[in-house]
Amino acid sequence: MDRKIDELLFALMQNMTIAVSGEKLARDLGVSHSTLSRWIDKLREAGVEIRGELFTGYRLTRIPDVMLPQWIRPRLRTQSLGRNIFHFYSVDSTNAFASRLLNHGRKVVHGTTIIAELQTAGRGRLGRSWHSEQENGLYFSLVLRPRIPPGFAPLFTLGTAVALQAVVARQTGLQVDIKWPNDLLAEGKKFCGILAEMQAEFDRVHSLIIGVGVNVNHTTMPDDIAERATSLRMVSGRAHSRIELLVEFLEEFENLLARFEQSGPAAIIDSWTAHSSFANGRRLRINDGFREIEGVTRGLNPFGALRLETPDGKVEEVFSGDVISWK
Ligand code: BTN
Repeated sequence: MDRKIDELLFALMQNMTIAVSGEKLARDLGVSHSTLSRWIDKLREAGVEIRGELFTGYRLTRIPDVMLPQWIRPRLRTQSLGRNIFHFYSVDSTNAFASRLLNHGRKVVHGTTIIAELQTAGRGRLGRSWHSEQENGLYFSLVLRPRIPPGFAPLFTLGTAVALQAVVARQTGLQVDIKWPNDLLAEGKKFCGILAEMQAEFDRVHSLIIGVGVNVNHTTMPDDIAERATSLRMVSGRAHSRIELLVEFLEEFENLLARFEQSGPAAIIDSWTAHSSFANGRRLRINDGFREIEGVTRGLNPFGALRLETPDGKVEEVFSGDVISWK
């Protein structure tokens, strides 16, 4: 249904200066009047300003900031990432939707991208939730079908962080940091998180779902996360285009994955190391889900695990976890 609502919005967009008759819209979309007014209500709920009603005609009163596939597609410069798009005005979680697609045995092509304006149950790492308010954030999941053994999967999340960091720097001028394993920080606060989920057999990956949440145009953060979270707008002082961030990210990430296929993990490891202040010489305390380890960072191993030199001089390799304190 959201695909049809996208068509409706697109039709209104193409007639910004005039009121389009409800009669004509309903006919063109092949739906009844009552369905049309339900869809108009849904768009209004999603923050789209539409004046008028069925019998006077409908008109958009400002250009809406909606991640319409019809606007994204013509801007894409990728071969496969983002070529198949699902767009939701509201969904529980784009990662959860991606898993449902995969589990229902549908053929989900490499690069399928699921985008939401709003998530009602946005998921974060380690069972946390992800604040997913309407319009201000970029929330999407990318389904990848790489031909790799599971051991290489962490490289894909590190690569996602590297690609996002490059795009954010280009589009906002902000120099942002990558906190291990793949949070993006601006002025020491988190504005972007990545949640990767994998379906795999012992020796090969079936699919990876890479979920990305970016706080783009929020002007405030909820009290419970305000101390540690921020948005690009709060740091740069101006609004940014979610569509341009997504389109450029897909291109940047596709190019990085191509380099990985040609020359192996170094393509990702070297970029991550060059762009994260956490790569070398930082004293961290990490909870890896089983224990807490403290040490000084000594780069990544070829599979993307963080090398941590502990006080007794040993080097531990940590694949995932939570940095609970850092200096
Ligand atoms: C984290 O830092 O804890 C990861 C946050 C990941 C949030 C994104 S928003 C889009 C995608 N769908 C989800 O439910 N989560 C990820």
